[in-house]
Amino acid sequence: MPQIFDMILKNAMIVNHNGAGKRDIGIRNGRIVALGDLSRTSAGEVINCSGLHIVPGMIDSQVHFREPGFEHKEDLDTGSRAAVLGGVTAVFEMPNTTPSTTSSEMLIDKVIRARHRMHCDFAFWVGGTRENAHELGELERLSGVAGIKVFMGSSTGDLLVDDDAGVRAILRNTRRRVAFHSEDEIRLVERQHLRIENDVASHPVWRDDLVSLKSTERLVGIARETGTRIHLLHVSTAEEIAFLKDHKDLATLEVTPHHLTLSADDYALLGTLIQMNPPIRAAHHRNALWLGLQQGIVDVIGSDHAPHILEEKQKPYPASPSGITGVQTIAPIMLDHVNSGRLTLEAFVDLTSHGPNRIFGISRKGRIAVGYDADLTVIDLKRRETITNAAVASKAGWTPYDGRMVTGWPVGTIIRGHRVMWEGEIVTLSKGEPVEFIETLPHC
Ligand code: DOR
Repeated sequence: MPQIFDMILKNAMIVNHNGAGKRDIGIRNGRIVALGDLSRTSAGEVINCSGLHIVPGMIDSQVHFREPGFEHKEDLDTGSRAAVLGGVTAVFEMPNTTPSTTSSEMLIDKVIRARHRMHCDFAFWVGGTRENAHELGELERLSGVAGIKVFMGSSTGDLLVDDDAGVRAILRNTRRRVAFHSEDEIRLVERQHLRIENDVASHPVWRDDLVSLKSTERLVGIARETGTRIHLLHVSTAEEIAFLKDHKDLATLEVTPHHLTLSADDYALLGTLIQMNPPIRAAHHRNALWLGLQQGIVDVIGSDHAPHILEEKQKPYPASPSGITGVQTIAPIMLDHVNSGRLTLEAFVDLTSHGPNRIFGISRKGRIAVGYDADLTVIDLKRRETITNAAVASKAGWTPYDGRMVTGWPVGTIIRGHRVMWEGEIVTLSKGEPVEFIETLPHC
């Protein structure tokens, strides 16, 4: 029989935009070319996925892989290893490296470093600043660019646009959706005295809910003036969810697994490991994020993987840096929530692949459909595993979930038809390519 496909994945439960059902997936030249009963056809490789679920490859639209500048914390190789071990097929990487990704030279440098060295596909956020605002219209359309990212409150690195005029200039010069770290810098500076030496529980007191809400309200006001689409990263407060539900025409939003899983009660045990910006907050905020997610207000889940090594994290607060690892645990943590009934597997798919496809205009990724890239995450929904520091591929070498038992585990990562991870082993090395977007295609 002539080989019609390079690979067939058989007998899995496929969870997709059109519901869940048993279908085979036929792959040729890195793309999905057939869906349905393929039992009478042949392929170079046939993988029996009985008992497993297959979802569109997970796209993590917020990771910090630290290269160039902070390679002792992470680099594009180790960060993307962690990604594929966690079932993630593509990542969008943040610009707060050294130097920051604020010019075409720095962007091209990152793409050259990443191509065929990263294990998953990738795009890079370009940092928006007052200085480069006039060039952003061109920068945002370069190949390999996920969009423009702006820090309105200071965090790791020196990217900061704290004033309305600066934000306005950026939004006037951009057409793609612009992503924001939304914390109000003026209120942050005013409240710095509230940080208590050696007491990380004072972090959410300093960076309180109004720090986030004020900034988000200012931002939405400016975006409405300029008519620009915006994306709120790592939304952390009940008040922002209530506010943003009335601005869904303009604003999309992300929540992180750690804001959905941890609360301020966890500082006692986990200390500065769970120090991040915006902070892990009181449990009622976590509940509001879940409600927002269940009501469809939340568009995507991003890990905000922000590695720092233990030696740095163990400095006494506030000298300890903010950031939590997460790209390898986004699937285990969220699948465990699926198993405990907090979200459906369909919602998981919406938040980790359809959502990014829809709001960022990704070409050929984010659905299991003929003509799309064969990017797939293979899941054993019933597998019980313990998350451990020992299994963390990030250079940081730790996870806040060390010792946590979860149900649901990614067992395969397929990227453009290549089996990259299978049963916890990386089996194909370094084939990462830039993600393409509708707005960066040559004819657009
Ligand atoms: O806690 C954080 N850490 N929040 C950010 O926005 C940046 C990140 C980092 O890069 O370390």
